[in-house]
Amino acid sequence: MKILITGGCGFVGSNLAILFKQYYTHSEVYCLDNLSRRGSEINLQKVIAAGGQFIHGDVRVKTDFDRIPAVDIVIDAAAEPSVLAGKVPGELENLIDTNLNGTINTLYFVKKNQAAIIFLSTSRVYPYNTLAKANLVALPKRFNLSNEQSLIGLSQQGVSENYPLEGLRSLYGATKLASEYFIQEFSYNFGLPAVINRCGVLSGPYQMGKIDQGVIVLWMAKHLWKGQLGYIGYGGLGQQARDVLHVRDLFRLIQWQIANLGLQNCQIFNVGGGLENTVSLAELTDLCIQITGNTIAMGSSLENRSGDLPIYITNNKKINHFCNWQPEIKIDQLLVEIFDWLKKDENKLRAILA
Ligand SMILES: NC(=O)c1ccc[n+]([C@@H]2O[C@H](COP(=O)([O-])OP(=O)(O)OC[C@H]3O[C@@H](n4cnc5c(N)ncnc54)[C@H](O)[C@@H]3O)[C@@H](O)[C@H]2O)c1
Repeated sequence: MKILITGGCGFVGSNLAILFKQYYTHSEVYCLDNLSRRGSEINLQKVIAAGGQFIHGDVRVKTDFDRIPAVDIVIDAAAEPSVLAGKVPGELENLIDTNLNGTINTLYFVKKNQAAIIFLSTSRVYPYNTLAKANLVALPKRFNLSNEQSLIGLSQQGVSENYPLEGLRSLYGATKLASEYFIQEFSYNFGLPAVINRCGVLSGPYQMGKIDQGVIVLWMAKHLWKGQLGYIGYGGLGQQARDVLHVRDLFRLIQWQIANLGLQNCQIFNVGGGLENTVSLAELTDLCIQITGNTIAMGSSLENRSGDLPIYITNNKKINHFCNWQPEIKIDQLLVEIFDWLKKDENKLRAILA
């Protein structure tokens, strides 16, 4: 098996590359990355140590794909993944060029090789202005989704694939949804096997968490190295909640998807930790205190951040129906793994994450 992972030195890309080399020792894994994400150069060392092959390149540059050998599978994991991206001058072009034009360049390469593509899309394709109207139950430390919902595709179990797409979804979400449309057209018109995974929050070691992306690692790093954090919006109590999926559970799903490409036929799946692996910020704080032994200053602001949501939970029912896949790694185990990684690589990571 020959695999190209774009963004192969990012959080998801590097984890997948290393796991592919572990599970399929004879596979050839090429990681294309422009190393623009701070910390991706640290992940690069791990990818190389695992036997992955690095190609320093940019998905925005179509000719950079000419340097990549023929492959069977392409995993599109190169992105500007921040939901806040695009508003700062200069960022907008990079967001659209990387996330949309970069995916189209990737599709030309997929077509040239008659390869399959697995696309890491996002829950952010679902509009925030309608999701913000979900009925909530407010507990002291978290919001839950009520069992009474009037919106199609929304239940206590979370958001399903039939949730209506009309509305605003952020510039980031728009680039990913537009990419999905091109992937479907390329798949249909050129007979390319494709799978689209709309992922909720993903986490695990090698995630270079920052304020606008990678909140789970950011929370743990700030506790470990005694920084400052704050609860933003929704009353400032940290009740906002997300489901979280360990990247190794994502890998197990991708293993099945690669082995069963013919069954999926360019399907779209919501993929996430699900209701059982949902955590609020206040609960995350408690878990980080337990694991690190450190309590830190926690700020609070009442004003909601534009495009933010009080809660998002992935409903995994469709993918469960296809393959019985279930997330196996619970949040407390995920946090311990992140803690262990931060401690082990403290010398390199502290300057980036603290
Ligand atoms: N992390 C999550 O919670 C999450 C959730 C849903 C979807 N996703 C999707 O998963 C994918 C991977 O996300 P991640 O969390 O690993 O992000 P990441 O930022 O850790 O990794 C992305 C990698 O892409 C590289 N990159 C950026 N622009 C590039 C360009 N123009 N050319 C080549 N490489 C470039 C970066 O250097 C980085 O190494 C993205 O498509 C993201 O939208 C992530």
